[in-house]
Amino acid sequence: MKEFFRKDYLVMENNRGEWGSNIGFLMAAVGSAVGLGNIWGFPNKMGRSGGFTFLIIYLLLAVFVGLTIMASELAIGRMTKKSPVLAYKDITKKFNWIGYLALLSPYLIMTFYSVLGGYCLYYVWINLKGLFGTMQNSESFGYMLTNIPLSLGITVLFMIICYIIVAGGVASGIEKFNKVGMPLLFVMLLVIIIKAFTMPKAVEGLKYMFVPGYAVKGGFIEAAPDVVTILATAGGQMFFSLSLAMGAMITYGSYLSKEENLVKNSIIIVIADTCVALMAGLAVIPAAVSNQFAAGLAPAEMTLGGPKLLFVTLQDTFYAMGKMGAIFGIIFYVLVLIAAISSAISLMEAIAAHFLDSAAAKGVEKARKPMVLKVAIAILILAALVGADGLGSNGFSPWNIFGMEAATADWNADWLDFMDMISEGIAMPLGAMLMSLMVGWEKGPELLLDEIHNGESSHWFPGFYRFCVRFVSPIVMAFVLAGQINSFFASSAGYVIAVVLLVIFWIVAATGKKEA
Ligand code: PHE
Repeated sequence: MKEFFRKDYLVMENNRGEWGSNIGFLMAAVGSAVGLGNIWGFPNKMGRSGGFTFLIIYLLLAVFVGLTIMASELAIGRMTKKSPVLAYKDITKKFNWIGYLALLSPYLIMTFYSVLGGYCLYYVWINLKGLFGTMQNSESFGYMLTNIPLSLGITVLFMIICYIIVAGGVASGIEKFNKVGMPLLFVMLLVIIIKAFTMPKAVEGLKYMFVPGYAVKGGFIEAAPDVVTILATAGGQMFFSLSLAMGAMITYGSYLSKEENLVKNSIIIVIADTCVALMAGLAVIPAAVSNQFAAGLAPAEMTLGGPKLLFVTLQDTFYAMGKMGAIFGIIFYVLVLIAAISSAISLMEAIAAHFLDSAAAKGVEKARKPMVLKVAIAILILAALVGADGLGSNGFSPWNIFGMEAATADWNADWLDFMDMISEGIAMPLGAMLMSLMVGWEKGPELLLDEIHNGESSHWFPGFYRFCVRFVSPIVMAFVLAGQINSFFASSAGYVIAVVLLVIFWIVAATGKKEA
């Protein structure tokens, strides 16, 4: 009887997907990391928060926290061969619920990521139309946002594309897409950078991005943020950008062969993601600054981040170039679309894998395609709200519904921000903080070190890892949590909340009975 169960279990395990090659896995993981966050988040945050100084802080955080958590997540996935909820249940008693945060977050992120992906599709379309007919300027943005059937239609279209890829399977869907998509994205990014550099006053954009203090000196912003805010901004950005605490990397790690070196892989993912973020900055900021100067805007009036950068400022930039602009527009929005798809499919996979694994754990073999379809539909139900809201254009934003006079802060400005607040604002930093405490203090870093290392010994890594996972990571994550709460709720209660949570969970993790 025992024997029977064992075999049964092995069969289940074999039915999980597996990457075709390590390079395929790397492309998929980099694809997950490289997304809208790199394009509209990083360059602008870097500019506003001190240019080069911000970059140094970002890099330090990426090395000390990003790398640690990346390696841990991949290891948790590979060790358990399960998606987050079941993986955490396997590993920890005290924190076995962390996995649910890593199931809720990707779902909520997808409710707006799919809408934004739809916007990218629409912009590819209007630039295609521009190539063969008349080019449209940024007025298309308002048109798209307030045209609810259109917004919903393009969201559905984006989800269909993602569905086809994810339903195709780990190696023959996700990996295949990324193996073509990532190199393509890289080449297209180079083309846009070269174009951007030849534009008048592009150098002002470069100064805004890189020169410390130039954002203030050049009149882009009034005052520079304080160090704590910069730390929290850089940490939050790094986290979102590396797709951490979202179930994505645990799930992708669970399809990885035991032979692969997780330290090396994690380093490559972090470096690639950071390079693309910098390159995206070189592409969009100089172009956006140049065109807004040409349009007679003062630096303080310029839009250099967020959805408006992508869909207003840059479309106007392409518009101003005439027919050539349509070509660059197509290249650029296809690039952004690939970035969006490659991230979205990792989120969908994390959710679908949960339900497939849970069924398998109960001894039921569920087919992949119908499961992915159900996930897609579940996402679309809430995405419809975000899409119909049109970034707050259509009168039923959260503050309207909650009966407030007006939006009081980011969390209730529109439904996109609301979903983002719960996922990126709270669940992500909290999840990562808890994971570090669980690994560092409840179970001890040795739990994952073997898996991360896989027999290969490097002298520096174990010591570095122990220190980071036990001390640096939980403290930095508390900062990030504080920063996110502060910015989403426009208050400074975040500090208190984050410190209280950190202390409580640290005590919970470090005290009491140690189970084997
Ligand atoms: N890393 C993606 C970006 O930068 C977003 C993302 C987060 C994707 C979490 C998957 C998981 O846009």
